[in-house]
Parts: sequence; C-alpha cells; structure tokens
Amino acid sequence: MTEHIRVTVEDRVMRIAFNRPEKKNAITNAMYVAMGEALTRAESDPQIRAVLFEAEGDAFTAGNDLADFAAVAAGKMARSEMKAHVFLEALARGQKPYVAAVQGFAVGVGVTMLMHCDLVYIADDAKLTTPFVNLALVPEAASSWLIPARIGHARAFAMFALGEPVDGRTAASIGIANASLPVSEVRAKAWAAAQALASRPLGAVQATKKLMRDAAAISAVMSREGEIFGQRLQTAEAAEAFRAFAERRAPDFSKVSG
Ligand code: COA
Repeated sequence: MTEHIRVTVEDRVMRIAFNRPEKKNAITNAMYVAMGEALTRAESDPQIRAVLFEAEGDAFTAGNDLADFAAVAAGKMARSEMKAHVFLEALARGQKPYVAAVQGFAVGVGVTMLMHCDLVYIADDAKLTTPFVNLALVPEAASSWLIPARIGHARAFAMFALGEPVDGRTAASIGIANASLPVSEVRAKAWAAAQALASRPLGAVQATKKLMRDAAAISAVMSREGEIFGQRLQTAEAAEAFRAFAERRAPDFSKVSG
C-alpha cells in the first residue's frame, strides 16, 4: 500500500491517480506494485468496465524514480528488487479499455505507458519526453517498437536519443493522443470518455482491443528491452547520468564508456 497511488472505483470506472505531486509523481517500486495490483483487480472484477489513469498536481509523471535507478547503478539495490515490470506486464496484458488524462510533464514510462492506453486526452501545453539515451538507458514497455510504429522512426529516434520533447498539440496531431485541450478540461474529457466506454458492450470492447494488439509480440519486445535495460542500469554511463541528476548538473559522458 502507498498513498502515492490513489485507486477509486466510480460508475464502473477504476480511476488510478498518481498522487506524489511534490516529486512530480516520480514512480517508486511501491507505486508500480500498487498500479499493477489495481490493474489485475480491474481485469477480474466484472463491475469494472474501464480504467482511467490521471495525476494530481502539475505533472502527469516524471517517470521512474531516479533514486531507485541510482541505487541499482550503485549496487545498493538488486535488479530483482525493481518492480516496474509488475505494472508494465499487467498493463500490456490487460484487456479492459484504458484511458489517460495527461497534463504537464510526462517523462519516460509516463509516455511509454500511453502506448498501452486506448484513449488519451492531453493538455495543449503538456510535454512528453523519453530521454532514455540521455540517461544511458534504452526504451522500455515495448516502446522501442510501439512508438516508431505510431509516429515513424525519425521522430521516435529524436525522442529516444536526443530527448526531444513533444508538446500536447503535436502529440494529438501525430496520433499519440486523441485530442489536446486546455489543461483545465483534460480530466473531465477523459472521465467522460471512460464513462462512454463503460456504457459500451464490454465483450465487444475487449474483443476489439484484443484484435488491435499483438500481445505476444509486445511481450517479446518487452522482455528483450528489459534485459538490455537491466544491463544498461549497471553501466558507468548510467551511474554518471544519475549522479548528474542528483547533483543538478549536466552529465559528462566524455570520460565514461560502455
Ligand atoms: N525521480 C526522482 N525525483 C524526481 C524525479 C524523478 N524522476 N523527477 C523529479 N523529481 C523530484 C526532484 O528531484 C525535485 O525534488 P526536490 O524538490 O526534493 O529537490 C522535485 O521532484 C521537483 O522536481 P524539479 O526538477 O524541481 O521540477 P521541474 O519542474 O524543474 O522539472 C522535470 C520537472 C520532470 C522536467 C524534472 O524533474 C526532470 O527532468 N526529472 C527527471 C525525469 C527523468 O529523467 N525521469 C526518468 C525517465 S526514464
């Protein structure tokens, strides 16, 4: 249990809210587990017909808690203690429809999880970044396949390798989101969409979602990425990237390699 993820059920919709605004909703191991468990519950509960991801505060999420990454890089936490996979695997295998309401910064997994959402509403001025290479890491959540498939290789590579941001309006125009809206309207729009989905015949919604996703391929890509991601976390490059974040300076990769 963690107060940093708030799970509520209302009108047949499970709302999963990031609730750690003081840290820009950076995701800890406990938060991944809480979200993974909530999604598993949503799958098995016939009363729940849609899941809505949303966030308190001015950011959707700053992605994985970098202190956890740094602990693995420094050998203070075993890779096996990392729990992102609990959430990502539940997200990828889920058959209930997922909706997301995104405002402010969405970083790393905050973007890659959107590739597993079925409807996404985003603030005009939201900022999506996947700075995996800047952190000496690689993409996860099958995003090395799903993001280029959605927006093309060139744009995806600029996001992954240069950390190039995509704003909310652009995200809507290139198919990452259904619509971009003024920030004050995003959550209400996403809630209305989740309720609309909940009113549809669930069997048909789930069968449609299943037809639209190659679950076996997604799972294969995720495990290939996971292996390389885990190796990269333990490199000198990654250690420098996490030290630099903690020290609030730009990383210097000129003296490290591998
Ligand atoms: N992990 C841990 N803590 C984080 C975090 C993260 N991913 N992102 C933000 N925080 C913390 C900051 O350390 C700061 O904590 P403090 O107040 O105790 O110093 C607090 O959240 C606010 O963040 P701050 O950087 O001051 O906010 P900002 O508005 O200037 O910038 C971001 C917001 C998201 C652009 C910036 O925090 C950032 O780049 N975070 C790292 C994102 C990242 O690389 N994630 C991993 C992707 S794989």
